Amino acid sequence: MLSWLPHYQDDINAAFARLFTSRYSAENEVEKLYEEALRYAVEGGGKRLRPILTLIAYEQISGLPASPEVMNAALGIECIHCFTLVHDDLPCMDNDELRRGKPTVWKKYGETMAVLIGDTLQTLGFELLAQSGHASIVQEIAHAVGDMGVTRGQVRDTLLRHDTLTLDELLRIHDEKTGGFIASALVAGALAAGAASDKVESFRRFGFLLGRAFQIRDDILDHESDSATLGKAAGKDVHLGKGIVALIGIEKSREMLTQLETDMLALIHEFDDPRFADIVAYVVKRSK
Ligand code: IPE
Ligand code: IPE
Ligand code: MG
Ligand code: MG
Ligand code: MG
Repeated sequence: MLSWLPHYQDDINAAFARLFTSRYSAENEVEKLYEEALRYAVEGGGKRLRPILTLIAYEQISGLPASPEVMNAALGIECIHCFTLVHDDLPCMDNDELRRGKPTVWKKYGETMAVLIGDTLQTLGFELLAQSGHASIVQEIAHAVGDMGVTRGQVRDTLLRHDTLTLDELLRIHDEKTGGFIASALVAGALAAGAASDKVESFRRFGFLLGRAFQIRDDILDHESDSATLGKAAGKDVHLGKGIVALIGIEKSREMLTQLETDMLALIHEFDDPRFADIVAYVVKRSK
């Protein structure tokens, strides 16, 4: 399954290495630490799902391999994703010490640095998105990440009482904090390829289902797996009364994931590219 995925991960990782090498040459010890922490937050261990979605959406529509401009958009999206993880792990948020099999950024470099690394990755992300040459992509991702998306979802996730949430309210959190950004990663690829608006919206519909499935799988893994396998803390959500498993139980969570898989497979026929079925299987069955 997914023999093509590592090739894309390698391309993305190599592009990040080139970016950081060309951009940084620290002048003193503090800057050296800052640049090291930035690389640490981005490099090593991430699945690179969101930028891969950007690249394959672009390729599916244009029939061309990704240009440097499209790769810039993909890198920008991954930087912004890494920013959300760095802040998500902070003591004032999820208070996590393990991420991608290593100490979290705040645990290794301190909270002050972690806040600033998050800030930096967000702005660096948008700089890279602008270098894609498409203002529509900048607009799309800003909408998905800010007050209408990830940030609003994170506010609900961390500050609402979870014991009184309805299923619809929890799914709204999932869509805001995770699903919308995953959908927008696909949409960004479609916009870069100059897709017609009906095609863009097909990718968005698929992306929302994929993103919802992704977060449900994340919650199931939190319940079923262990920290060594996940490379991040396991077993926290149910304990805190958070997430889909705490709300509807493991069986119903699995059923919901299976239903989403069926719905996605029905939608991706029109893309006529077997890699989308691979991605669905990967997201639904992933073990980390
Ligand atoms: C984790 O995202 C945060 C969620 C939205 C559940 P990923 O599972 O994509 O994290 P990495 O980038 O592969 O580490
Ligand atoms: C985080 O959801 C979603 C983000 C916007 C980062 P989680 O808090 O469940 O993600 P993990 O489990 O820490 O990766
Ligand atoms: Mg969280
Ligand atoms: Mg978390
Ligand atoms: Mg989680």
